[in-house]
Amino acid sequence: MKSDNELKTKAYQAVKNSQDKVRQDPYRLHYHIMPSVGLLNDPNGFVYYQGKYHLFYQWNPFGTNHSSKFWGHFSSKNLVDWHEEPIALAPSSWFDKNGCYSGSAIVHEDQLYLFYTGNVRDENGDRETYQCLAISSDGVNFDKKGPVVQLPNGYTAHFRDPKVWKHEEKWYMIIGAQTEQVTGTVVLYESIDLISWRFLGPITERQDFGYMWECPDLFSLNDKDVLLFSPQGIEPEGYHYQNIYQSGYFVGKLDYQEVSYQHGRFEEIDRGFDFYAPQTTVDNKGRRLMFGWMGVPEENEQDHPTISHHWIHALTMPRQLELKDGKLFQHPVEELVNLRKEAVIYSDVVIKGEKIQMPRVNGNAVELFLEVKENASRQFSVSFGNNTQVLFDQENKLVTLKRKSMKSNQLEKRQCHLNDFKNVRIFLDASSIEIFINGGEEVFTTRIFDDVKNDSIYFHSTGKMIIDINKWELKQ
Ligand code: FRU
Repeated sequence: MKSDNELKTKAYQAVKNSQDKVRQDPYRLHYHIMPSVGLLNDPNGFVYYQGKYHLFYQWNPFGTNHSSKFWGHFSSKNLVDWHEEPIALAPSSWFDKNGCYSGSAIVHEDQLYLFYTGNVRDENGDRETYQCLAISSDGVNFDKKGPVVQLPNGYTAHFRDPKVWKHEEKWYMIIGAQTEQVTGTVVLYESIDLISWRFLGPITERQDFGYMWECPDLFSLNDKDVLLFSPQGIEPEGYHYQNIYQSGYFVGKLDYQEVSYQHGRFEEIDRGFDFYAPQTTVDNKGRRLMFGWMGVPEENEQDHPTISHHWIHALTMPRQLELKDGKLFQHPVEELVNLRKEAVIYSDVVIKGEKIQMPRVNGNAVELFLEVKENASRQFSVSFGNNTQVLFDQENKLVTLKRKSMKSNQLEKRQCHLNDFKNVRIFLDASSIEIFINGGEEVFTTRIFDDVKNDSIYFHSTGKMIIDINKWELKQ
């Protein structure tokens, strides 16, 4: 096994070797968090500590597959300008030698505590899992303390992604798990000192919802407890569950005494092709903020054109969560207005069953905000370049996102129900698009790999519409 220093040095060398190749990629993102080289997946350890946001991520510096996992680290004072910090965790110890897997962060007595899963393969290639702790006093250097939770009876080694929070006087941890009956669940632990943890048991009785729940996160909003997680093994059902793996949530109430969580139905949090493993934190302003991974495990991972430029995947924009009538709304954080450069604004644009383009409404690092003033049109669409389109179908109360498939070059789509189309905010960034409909009521997050030279934007209605069009070039 390589020492911590040797591994980190090797990772920095990999960055040096490939960073020019990454920089030359036209699909490189301009204002999203992406890996300097290699593969990025889940956001980890999102926390506000000593006046800064810290955001870690699953990182393989050595290639665009999932063979090795470090915790990369960014920090930011404003959620807009991110600074790359030294590697936080390298898979250098007996308890994490095959990957420092996902986890979370909390602040206690001015120290930063990281809880993560140590992934280990034994001599026969079988999986072992350890929930580990690492502590920092400066937010940059982390001291590994080793495992604090062992695999309990009744669960397979698919037991990972600890999320820790404080409730009243105690600390709690939930972990994504698979039972020996091969059903997905989450289990709850409690602690008074963050070191010794007591197993309380699974919090939901549900036995019929997939074979593994990854990356659970539990938090309170408006006096409700939201359980956000990424289940695996759910079959497609109408417009739902179209990706190989999903991310979504229950809204309910956790009874800490009874260790039981009463909740409603599962809601997908994002309707696009590329969203997984979101993680939240609460910041110094009391906001519940979330980042997601703009990717899905195994979904088209071989087909991303960025692989030839030695990198793959990115994180979403930071979003603020709001719970309204039992549904999570997602808002791009307000700080993102600081990304805006010059504005192009057209008020009361009349479109009458035609396809139009507006002067200077184009680009591939832009924010677009459209507000509907009057709508007598059955359909309205916004198209980006040749192949990406979001279509609002008033007649069928449907939203459709189309993109060019990475595999076949055919168009493919994701859809969801929408009662009434009022407005849409869109963030476009070279090879990604995030679409927030009706103030974040529905969100589509998707990577798009199209001709970056064609940066045109078209609006098309079948009947009469009046809309306001606002467009901002964003800082690169
Ligand atoms: C989710 C996930 C987690 C795991 C991590 C490994 O994408 O599979 O369950 O901790 O990625 O990188």
